[in-house]
Amino acid sequence: MSELAWWQRAVIYQVYPRSFQDENGDGIGDLAGITARLHYLRALGADALWISPVYPSPMVDFGYDVADYCAIAPMFGTLDDFDRLVTHAHELGLKVLLDFVPNHSSDKHPWFTESRSSRDNPKRDWYLWRDPAPDGGPPNNWLSRMGGSAWEWDRLTGQYYYHAFLREQPDLNWRNADVRTAMDCVMRFWLDRGVDGFRVDVLWLLIKDALFRDNPPNPQFKAGEPDHHRQLQTYTEDQPEVHDIVRSMRATLDEYGERVLIGEIYLPVPQLVSYYGPNGDGANMPFNFQLISAPWNATEIARIVSEYDHALPLHAWPNWVLGNHDNPRVASRIGVRQARVAAMLLLTLRGTPTLYYGDEIGMTDGTIPPDRVQDPAELRQPGIGQGRDPERTPMQWDGSPNAGFSSGVPWLPISGGDGINVVDQDSKPSSMLMFYRRLLALRGSEPALVEGAIERVVSSGSVLTYERHLGDHRFFIALNMAGADAQVEVPQGTLVLSTTGCHEGERIEGPSLLLAGDEGIVIRASKPA
Ligand code: NOJ
Repeated sequence: MSELAWWQRAVIYQVYPRSFQDENGDGIGDLAGITARLHYLRALGADALWISPVYPSPMVDFGYDVADYCAIAPMFGTLDDFDRLVTHAHELGLKVLLDFVPNHSSDKHPWFTESRSSRDNPKRDWYLWRDPAPDGGPPNNWLSRMGGSAWEWDRLTGQYYYHAFLREQPDLNWRNADVRTAMDCVMRFWLDRGVDGFRVDVLWLLIKDALFRDNPPNPQFKAGEPDHHRQLQTYTEDQPEVHDIVRSMRATLDEYGERVLIGEIYLPVPQLVSYYGPNGDGANMPFNFQLISAPWNATEIARIVSEYDHALPLHAWPNWVLGNHDNPRVASRIGVRQARVAAMLLLTLRGTPTLYYGDEIGMTDGTIPPDRVQDPAELRQPGIGQGRDPERTPMQWDGSPNAGFSSGVPWLPISGGDGINVVDQDSKPSSMLMFYRRLLALRGSEPALVEGAIERVVSSGSVLTYERHLGDHRFFIALNMAGADAQVEVPQGTLVLSTTGCHEGERIEGPSLLLAGDEGIVIRASKPA
C-alpha cells in the first residue's frame, strides 16, 4: 500500500456524546454508551471517531465551556471509562480524536476564578482584561458570536473581559506564555493517554489584535444574520500570529508519532489553506466546510472542488465535511434523496471525509418545542434560526419511543421519521445505512478512491462528473444533483455502485447513459487497451 498516514486513509465519524448512547439512563449520552457502540462504527467502515467535548463543564455551551481540561465530566463517566473507550477502540482498529477547546474556558474554570479575583493575581493576564472606554462602556466595538457585545463588565476589579462566545466562555490570552505552556500540558495529558489527535475548536480565533482596534462595519450585512456579521472580523480572527501557535501544537503532536491535528476554521479557501503552514508544519487538516455552505447544484460543486484542489499547497492533504453539530443536517438541507448523492460525493472526493453521526441513517433535523430549547445560540438570539438543537437530537438506534438511545427522558426530543433507525435499516438492502456501508467498503478497498488523483471535474446541466485515478485504476463518478433524469457521457466499464442500488455489477458500454433524477453512480472504467 501507500505511504499515506492513517488519517489520510481514514473516514472520520463525529460523535456528539450527549446524543449518541446513554448507558446510565439519565437521558444524556455517555462514554460507556460510545464504547458499547464502537462495533457499530467499525461495521459501518469508519476508521476514527472524533468525540465532541466530554470535559467537566457547566454545560452552558454543552461542553464547549470547559471547567477542567484534564478530566471527564461525571455525566459522561470517568477517566477509567475514557481509558476503556480508547483501549477498546484501538483493539477494533479505530482511532480516537478529542475535541480540544483552547480559545476559551468556562468562567467556572479555576484559572478564570483566579484571574478575576484581583488585578494583580498571577493569572490576571491569562484572560483578556481591559479598562472601560472613556464613557465607561466596553473598551471597543467587538461583538460576541452569540449576540451582543463581546465584553463583560466585572464589578469586582472594574474591568471588562472579552468573550468571543458566551459571557460564560471568557477567551484565554494566547499571547501569554504561561497559557501556551498550560495548554501544551493539556495536549500531552491526553496524548499520553493514547488519543490519536485533536479537532481544535475555533482555531482561527485564538489570537486577537494586540491593539484591540475596532472592527470595521460589514457593508454586506443583511437583516436576520447573526449579530456579529454586522462587522468584518478584521481584528478578532485570522491574525498572523495564530500560525505560530498552530505550528507549536503540531510540533507537540509530532513528538508522539503519527497523530492528527484538525482545525475548525471557517474562512474562505485562500486563507483556510494557509493553516497547513508554509512548510506543511501547521494543521494536518484545516476542516473544509464548503459542502455545508455551498448552493447544492452541479455548477457550484464543480467549481468548489476544482478551486479547492488547485488552492491546496503541494504538501497539503484535502478533507471534506458534510455535517456537524453546528449546522442543519444534510438530509434537511438538501433532502433525503440528495443526501445519498452527497454521501457518494463526500466518499469519492479526494481527501479525508468526516461524517456526522446519524447522517448515515438519513436523520433529519428534529423539531424542538419552545419549552425544550437547549442551545444558548437559540436562547440568546431567538427567532433568527441559529438554534443548533435540531441537528443534535439523539441517535436513532431503533424504532422505540426513545429510539434505543436512553431508558430515561432524552435531553432533546427524538427526531424520528419512518424507518430512520439502525435496526430497521440494518438488513434492508435499499436502506441508507446499507448504502453507506457499501460506499465505505468500496472506498476502503480501492486505493484509487483514497489516494488517486481527481481529474476532469465537470458539470453539465444538473450532473457533476469526475474521475479518480491511480495507475491503471480509474473510477468515473456521475452525480445527478436534481430530480429530473439526465443523459450523461460515460466511459466503458462496470457500474459498481448506485445510490438507487439499480444495475450494480452491470457492464456499461457507453458512450452515454440515462442517469435517473437524484441518482449517483460509480463506474469502474475498463483499463485502457
Ligand atoms: C465551535 C463549536 O463547534 C460550537 O459548538 C461552539 O459553540 C463554539 N465553537 C464555541 O466553543
